[in-house]
Amino acid sequence: MNLLETRNLSVEYGTDEGPLRAVDGVDLSVESGEILGVVGESGCGKTTLMKAILNLLPENGDVVEGDIQFDGRSLIDIPESELRPIRWEDLSYIIQNAMTTLDPVYRIGSQFVEIIRTHRDVSKSEARSMAGEMLEDVGIDRSRLSDYPHELSGGQRQRVVIALALVLDPKLVIADEPTTGLDVVTQEEILKLIKRIQKSFDSAVVLITHDISVVAEIADRVAVMYGGELVEVGPTSDVFHRSAHPYTMGLMNAFPSIEESADELVSIPGSPPNLVDPPTGCRFTERCPFATEECYEEPPEETVGERHRSRCHYTAQAPEFRERSERAETWTADESVRPEGVYNE
Ligand SMILES: Nc1ncnc2c1ncn2[C@@H]1O[C@H](COP(=O)(O)OP(=O)(O)OP(=O)(O)O)[C@@H](O)[C@H]1O
Ligand SMILES: [Mg+2]
Repeated sequence: MNLLETRNLSVEYGTDEGPLRAVDGVDLSVESGEILGVVGESGCGKTTLMKAILNLLPENGDVVEGDIQFDGRSLIDIPESELRPIRWEDLSYIIQNAMTTLDPVYRIGSQFVEIIRTHRDVSKSEARSMAGEMLEDVGIDRSRLSDYPHELSGGQRQRVVIALALVLDPKLVIADEPTTGLDVVTQEEILKLIKRIQKSFDSAVVLITHDISVVAEIADRVAVMYGGELVEVGPTSDVFHRSAHPYTMGLMNAFPSIEESADELVSIPGSPPNLVDPPTGCRFTERCPFATEECYEEPPEETVGERHRSRCHYTAQAPEFRERSERAETWTADESVRPEGVYNE
């Protein structure tokens, strides 16, 4: 069953240059108990999508279209008073910069007690003992409850934030780059932790990251975002081994640790489109080695398979593209693969 479902969700930010559509028509679902990885380069709309779901968009950001269903109810236009009981208890989050989740002026313990007692009818000491147990689950000594956030290292703080997100046994945890800024060993430990906790608590996890290899390791399904759109989604093995969208193929070539990817690492030249004035056709056209005139003119429809979906005009040619995408020269500006006069305009 789908725990979370966004339908045709679009989010805009008001900017000096005009409305910037950071999320455009996204249909995404999260099933109970699964880990869904969300990947895409910087600026593709991952955080915005998460903030829209959590109702944490900044002042200049608005959901302009679509719906968000969570656990059988709509989260669109829900008053804060009705969202409060859901947040942390059913739907919790680990945001991009953990330091902003923890209040620097309160001890770790009081922050746990506050959140626990908002949702559960327990005494302060019961709340502290719940917090202590959860902290030990994430590998932090319970004596740390008396510390202030600044007394912990970055990795410890991140664990505290994870403990906070899990202490009420939520149905869904949204984790936005939970390991950014941490050293590789700590990153690895935190990811293992997320995986272990998801198993033992049976929570669903949405894991947002630009690191494809992380997702390959722990996600059940993967969603790929590009230029505010969802360009490919499906079970991890399908998306990684049978990528249907050239952007996914390009992303994979830029990461070393996936089997069957290119020997040489090749990054995708160029950068994502400006979302104040996005391209008319497929948003990846300018960087796509397989683009044709049609791609410049017509936005692709989603090709519908039950579980594995992609937004490309040429999904049927994906096997051939995959092979070509592994060669470095495919991604360099080779005019022969682009229709004359279109690319050079
Ligand atoms: N508060 C804001 N006001 C205006 N534009 C914004 C705001 N926040 C984000 N944007 C724009 O929205 C788009 C999507 O940004 P978002 O932060 O969702 O990307 P992201 O995929 O999370 O990137 P990253 O991997 O760097 O975290 C970008 O073009 C960004 O510049
Ligand atoms: Mg982000």
